[in-house]
Amino acid sequence: MKLTHISLFTASILQSVYGSIFINPPALPALPSAQQAASAAAAAGLNLTNIQGDILLGMKKNKELFFFFKIQDATAFKSHLGADILPLITTTTQIVASSSQLTTLVNIAFSQRGLSALGVTDSLGDSLFSSGQLAGATSLGDQTSNWVPQFAGSDIDGVLLIASDTVDNVNNTLSALQNSINGSISEVYRIQGAARPGDQQGHEHFGFMDGISNPAVDGFSQQIVHPGQTIVPPGIILVGEANDTVPTRPSWAQDGSFLAFRQLKQLVPEFDQFLLDNALSEPNFTLQENAELLGARMMGRWKSGAPIDLTPLADDPVLANDTNRNNNFNYTHPNFDITTDQSHCAFSAHVRKTNPRAGIPGGFPFHIVRAGIPYGPEVTSDESASNTSSTDASLERGLAFVAYQSSIGEGFAFLQKTWANNVNISTYIVDISNDHFCILCSTNNSTGEDPIIGVGAGDGPRHPSGLDPQDATKVITIEKGMFL
Ligand code: HEM
Ligand SMILES: *[C@@H]1O[C@H](CO)[C@@H](O)[C@H](O)[C@H]1NC(C)=O
Ligand SMILES: *[C@@H]1O[C@H](CO)[C@@H](O)[C@H](O)[C@H]1NC(C)=O
Ligand SMILES: *[C@@H]1O[C@H](CO)[C@@H](O)[C@H](O)[C@H]1NC(C)=O
Ligand SMILES: *[C@@H]1O[C@H](CO)[C@@H](O)[C@H](O)[C@H]1NC(C)=O
Ligand SMILES: *[C@@H]1O[C@H](CO)[C@@H](O)[C@H](O)[C@H]1NC(C)=O
Ligand SMILES: *[C@@H]1O[C@H](CO)[C@@H](O)[C@H](O)[C@H]1NC(C)=O
Ligand SMILES: *[C@@H]1O[C@H](CO)[C@@H](O)[C@H](O)[C@H]1NC(C)=O
Ligand SMILES: *[C@@H]1O[C@H](CO)[C@@H](O)[C@H](O)[C@H]1NC(C)=O
Ligand SMILES: *[C@@H]1O[C@H](CO)[C@@H](O)[C@H](O)[C@H]1NC(C)=O
Ligand SMILES: *[C@@H]1O[C@H](CO)[C@@H](O)[C@H](O)[C@H]1NC(C)=O
Ligand SMILES: *[C@@H]1O[C@H](CO)[C@@H](O)[C@H](O)[C@H]1NC(C)=O
Repeated sequence: MKLTHISLFTASILQSVYGSIFINPPALPALPSAQQAASAAAAAGLNLTNIQGDILLGMKKNKELFFFFKIQDATAFKSHLGADILPLITTTTQIVASSSQLTTLVNIAFSQRGLSALGVTDSLGDSLFSSGQLAGATSLGDQTSNWVPQFAGSDIDGVLLIASDTVDNVNNTLSALQNSINGSISEVYRIQGAARPGDQQGHEHFGFMDGISNPAVDGFSQQIVHPGQTIVPPGIILVGEANDTVPTRPSWAQDGSFLAFRQLKQLVPEFDQFLLDNALSEPNFTLQENAELLGARMMGRWKSGAPIDLTPLADDPVLANDTNRNNNFNYTHPNFDITTDQSHCAFSAHVRKTNPRAGIPGGFPFHIVRAGIPYGPEVTSDESASNTSSTDASLERGLAFVAYQSSIGEGFAFLQKTWANNVNISTYIVDISNDHFCILCSTNNSTGEDPIIGVGAGDGPRHPSGLDPQDATKVITIEKGMFL
């Protein structure tokens, strides 16, 4: 399912309430102040009121509903869009206006099908968007039989993203919206996202802190960039801004972004069991520590968020919580050969596969902003005792993955297809436009697929290597569907 955020809309602050807080565990970068954001945006000529709030900063609420809809009456919906939905759309300006935090935040995005239903005939200049994610499923390595049926169907015209502190608020906002738009859209599918409770807030269901490393958009984030953060020209994320690779876009699409959505089901007890069954063999480590180490090497970060590139053999929770240090690494070290040495981090680790940092000479121009949220309940005691996820659909859990970019083919789809699913590593950048991959390494030895999100050739097992610091050539086989 691919959708676009469009921002032909203007928005004004409607409902505001003091004291409502965003989720912000210490490991995650703090929001800029309104003043910092305003002056940085002005310097770069970005109009934050024209940019929906989820794109650059994320809505960062406890609960977020993804309400996928079909347009029933295009004429009626169009008029409600301007009169009733537009005033509710939360802009980036509103997100950073800390003195008037919104209770409930709303964003909207359309699929190509939805734009067509509304009579929009302009080409947005992104072929993966216009053909839809279903058409590209095979090339992503997906089996559509595993898809939520509604995503494989042809009814989804758009999605409303509604975020708040409570599901009650989300439901109330949705009901009010549905009343005002008078049946001009109908529900196709919904997924209720929720931050995990207590000290797991900000962590995804396997237990790892998520949302640490996102690119900063040049200008907007100039004054608030954290050490190690990649700075990208605005047009890498926002359509129609500087360095957008598509030279002409419809003027109404300016400052929109393509939203790639994935519902990724996670089998948490199975993941934990896999780590124990394949625990590494560091001397003096307990079985539990060797299992933790394997997990950290598969992800590239410890559960706390501390990057293994900086702390390879033991977690460092103080480093993890320090946003001036926890993203400040690039896989280089003094007297260290980045092209062969995997003692700090495996080439196949999820965060290295999806962002090789100094592994690409000269850097890599394309990046995505991630703004997903976990969905589903915590593991139950029954599941934990049996080391098996329940088949009860109400206990399904995973990641409602959201990626924003100005080019799906160079953003989400590139990461999934060309890096995560690729067993090989190459010696040099050849030609990005021709889809070549380019992780610097002096041999052609296989890195294997990304152990978290990769898909094995022919939908078979994944074969990541580099995970065992004692023997980087050791391949750990991960059967299809083992935990993701
Ligand atoms: C259930 C599936 C997934 C899980 C559990 C997961 C988990 C994580 C975690 C824990 C991090 C490190 C924290 C951070 O830097 O924010 C991370 C980073 C990242 N993930 Fe994922 N992720 C998943 C799916 C995906 C997908 C589908 C993609 C894209 C195709 C992706 C792309 C990235 C990127 C680009 C980074 C940042 C890497 C960096 O800049 O260092 N992830 N992910
Ligand atoms: C910024 O965007 C908003 C919303 O589209 C618009 O109303 C406003 O006129 C724009 N401001 C400038 C200075 O262009
Ligand atoms: C919100 O709405 C959903 C769907 O109607 C319902 O299942 C859920 O119980 C509601 N939650 C609350 C807290 O009202
Ligand atoms: C609501 O929709 C019905 C038909 O679907 C229409 O007859 C009615 O006028 C609409 N009401 C409003 C207030 O738009
Ligand atoms: C952005 O585009 C300008 C003009 O084409 C170019 O000089 C510059 O190198 C580009 N910046 C990046 C980071 O690609
Ligand atoms: C294991 O621990 C013992 C006691 O702390 C220490 O003497 C030994 O050097 C350690 N071995 C390794 C390989 O770290
Ligand atoms: C880091 O932050 C988490 C909250 O996300 C907290 O539970 C933990 O105690 C902190 N750790 C340290 C060492 O400060
Ligand atoms: C490449 O693979 C060969 C054969 O398995 C192995 O001997 C060699 O050490 C590997 N090189 C690296 C850098 O991993
Ligand atoms: C990697 O980080 C080191 C240490 O901060 C820095 O000196 C070096 O220039 C960086 N290399 C690249 C290619 O960014
Ligand atoms: C679950 O896994 C643990 C740890 O591997 C093991 O001790 C326990 O026997 C397993 N339980 C079942 C029901 O398989
Ligand atoms: C990976 O490299 C090997 C050896 O060069 C080659 O046989 C294989 O086809 C490559 N696989 C892919 C998916 O490119
Ligand atoms: C890696 O493979 C490429 C293309 O197959 C070849 O040109 C190159 O010599 C190989 N490099 C090494 C170090 O084997």
